Amino acid sequence: MIPAELDIPPDWEELDLSELHGTLLVVGEPNAGKSSFSRYLYGRMNASRTRVALIDGDPGQATLGPPTTITLALKLDGVPPGEMPDSSEFVRRSFIGSTTPYRHMLPMLVGAARLVSAANQAGVETIVYDTCGLVQPDSGGLSLKQAKIDLLRPETVFAIRNGHELDALLRPLRRSRRTRLVELAPSEYARVRSMATRQAHRASQYRRYFSGSGVQRFNWSKLAVFPKPGFSPGRLVALEDRLGFTLALGVVVEVERTARQVSLLTPLPSPDGVDAIQIGDIIIDTGTFHDRIIS
Ligand SMILES: Nc1ncnc2c1ncn2[C@@H]1O[C@H](COP(=O)(O)OP(=O)(O)O)[C@@H](O)[C@H]1O
Ligand SMILES: [Mg+2]
Repeated sequence: MIPAELDIPPDWEELDLSELHGTLLVVGEPNAGKSSFSRYLYGRMNASRTRVALIDGDPGQATLGPPTTITLALKLDGVPPGEMPDSSEFVRRSFIGSTTPYRHMLPMLVGAARLVSAANQAGVETIVYDTCGLVQPDSGGLSLKQAKIDLLRPETVFAIRNGHELDALLRPLRRSRRTRLVELAPSEYARVRSMATRQAHRASQYRRYFSGSGVQRFNWSKLAVFPKPGFSPGRLVALEDRLGFTLALGVVVEVERTARQVSLLTPLPSPDGVDAIQIGDIIIDTGTFHDRIIS
């Protein structure tokens, strides 16, 4: 299903998808239209093939999961763009711990490897990988993108660019045979979203994600806590399974230090299967669902 409201520029339409397989990485600056293009590409591939997956690799303006996570999803046919697929579909999440990859680049790479390997194990043949917009050298974005390309060895990199803003990343790629590079212009409908719009979008995603949540108590002396039990009210955490996938997010509501008990607001119906708690670097106000980065 290709989103009806999407503008499809001619060079998108003219893409020959018959040769595409493996990992297809979509790069570009924030608001270039990476997520719109990724969903379009996924829709077209999915219409003609069976084993296609979409990975939402942006923990800030996430499309398939709550902010602070990156998500692998299969079978998005019934899921409108912008809505999170529910767990009845094949979904795997990896926790980044922040809404920006800045200072969280290792979890970005570990998560990328984990999700791609889960897709491969599920028999997926084509992965559309939508990345975050951090691409500039001074923010570390360039190194992150280069490392991700080195790690994932995408068959094709789709670069959406207006001018020369991706040159530092693309110049060596244009000369390399490691990956095929397809450069595309953004849609004229691509719109810059302000910081306030981005914050409001994240708040609405958290609100939806935590709606219907209950409070679960955990004794942290019985669980692994990474990196250490730095619980404080409002702190966002991930409840992880044995393989490190995110079962659910939680927000700390109460800490009883002597009893080593922490109460979390979480949509997870039962603590069964929780192997570890991963502490995030985000505080969430559970009234407004505004988030704040703490390191
Ligand atoms: N092809 C398109 N058709 C319609 N709207 C688009 C298109 N590309 C981008 N937009 C709009 O521009 C904004 C940024 O696009 P998005 O795909 O989220 O960019 P990115 O993922 O690169 O940050 C969004 O509001 C989106 O709806
Ligand atoms: Mg995006």
